[in-house]
Amino acid sequence: MTRRTDIDVRPVTEAELPAWDRALNTGFLQAPTSPDEVLRARRRLFVPGRLLGAFDGDRCVATFRSFDQEVTAVGGTPVPSDAISNVTVSPTHRRRGLLTRMMAQDLAAAKERGDVVATLIAAEYPIYGRYGFGPATTMAEWTVDVPRAGLDPRWAGPEDGGRIDLVDGEEVRKLGPELFERLRLAQPGAVSKPPAWWQARTGELRFESPWTEPFFAVYRTAGGEVEGMTAYTADDRWGDAKQPLNTASVKWLIGATPAADRALWRYLCSIDWVTTVKSGWRAPDDLLPHFLPDPRAAHITSQADWLWVRILDVVRALEARTYEAAGSLVLEVADAAGLTGGRWRLEAAAGGKGSCTATTESAELVLDVRDLATLWLGDESAVRLAALGRVREERAGAAREADALLRTSRRPWCPDMF
Ligand SMILES: CC(C)(COP(=O)(O)OP(=O)(O)OC[C@H]1O[C@@H](n2cnc3c(N)ncnc32)[C@H](O)[C@@H]1OP(=O)(O)O)[C@@H](O)C(=O)NCCC(=O)NCCS
Repeated sequence: MTRRTDIDVRPVTEAELPAWDRALNTGFLQAPTSPDEVLRARRRLFVPGRLLGAFDGDRCVATFRSFDQEVTAVGGTPVPSDAISNVTVSPTHRRRGLLTRMMAQDLAAAKERGDVVATLIAAEYPIYGRYGFGPATTMAEWTVDVPRAGLDPRWAGPEDGGRIDLVDGEEVRKLGPELFERLRLAQPGAVSKPPAWWQARTGELRFESPWTEPFFAVYRTAGGEVEGMTAYTADDRWGDAKQPLNTASVKWLIGATPAADRALWRYLCSIDWVTTVKSGWRAPDDLLPHFLPDPRAAHITSQADWLWVRILDVVRALEARTYEAAGSLVLEVADAAGLTGGRWRLEAAAGGKGSCTATTESAELVLDVRDLATLWLGDESAVRLAALGRVREERAGAAREADALLRTSRRPWCPDMF
């Protein structure tokens, strides 16, 4: 039997990709052998050094991939991030510390490269806190009961003079990236999309097989500017008395303005035969319910933590974001992994700009790096974390002051799964 120390954790070579891919599928409980087109697509993601594998002899038993990403801080500055994905350990080799070894290698390399944070979407809540990650955004999915929404069935297009057009994948690849950049740079918590994202969503690259082509719709303003785009599929369900009972499932919806969101949701809720619209992953304060005359027609059917963040550089992370009020606070941040702990004075100026300098003054708020990650994008309250015993106030009122600085009027949102 192989001893645990004999298992080699290292970057995989391109020639090892099929073995790595097999381990990945196994860890995610998918059929072990990928169809050729999926393997070809995965090959496109190969970046030397950024795919790790654990090898028991020549058998790949664990997978880990990271890639360059940007995540938008509060205020709109994109910060360099080490995005982590494809994390698996085969069931034959679980709980021997393989994930811990792959994570340590990857985070050390990210720190060395100068990434400010690492990001991931966690399959299960208990996995990543131990590595300094904290949940930083929330997602919600709504199900709209269209007949109950109170919408005028005579709707024939946006009231604002804009228009909606159905387009094909090629048009999406042409118009989508620029539109998404507008949303991304205005949306704290949004992450950059790799070019392969557009190809994968339009069938040019197949990460799933078979692939179903969705419908694509584009919203243009009265002035002809592209401000919104959505992709959706529909099922084919009919009632016993031949009533159409179709569900439209939104794959993604990008609105650069509230007008675009309004027009696209109205469109989706006005497609003949469609009685249910599933919204896909939205921000928990999405306006969708309030675009409907009866907001109760939309109810949340799924809600969970979404983007997890690991701060690798506290100073750069705190200086990248803006602040909601002027103020000052001494934070002591513990980081058991030794990547970025310390004590800093955070000063926020009236215009929102912040500075963060090392200090020997007494700490006012003491917290772990994972809880700072949870506060970083403004989605959580330091007062709540203090109530839970996860943040310690060394000066009464410090948690409330932290909330005044850090919390935002709209919630952060990461539209993507990666
Ligand atoms: C999650 C996964 C990668 C963990 O790999 P692993 O090599 O078993 O993890 P490690 O042995 O390094 O575990 C480190 C610690 O985390 C704990 N841990 C790991 N996975 C856990 C889980 N799913 N739930 C709770 N605790 C977990 C271990 O018990 C261990 O705790 P300890 O240090 O107190 O002993 C593996 O279970 C897996 O592949 N799961 C299925 C796919 C998946 O969920 N991938 C994550 C996608 S985001």
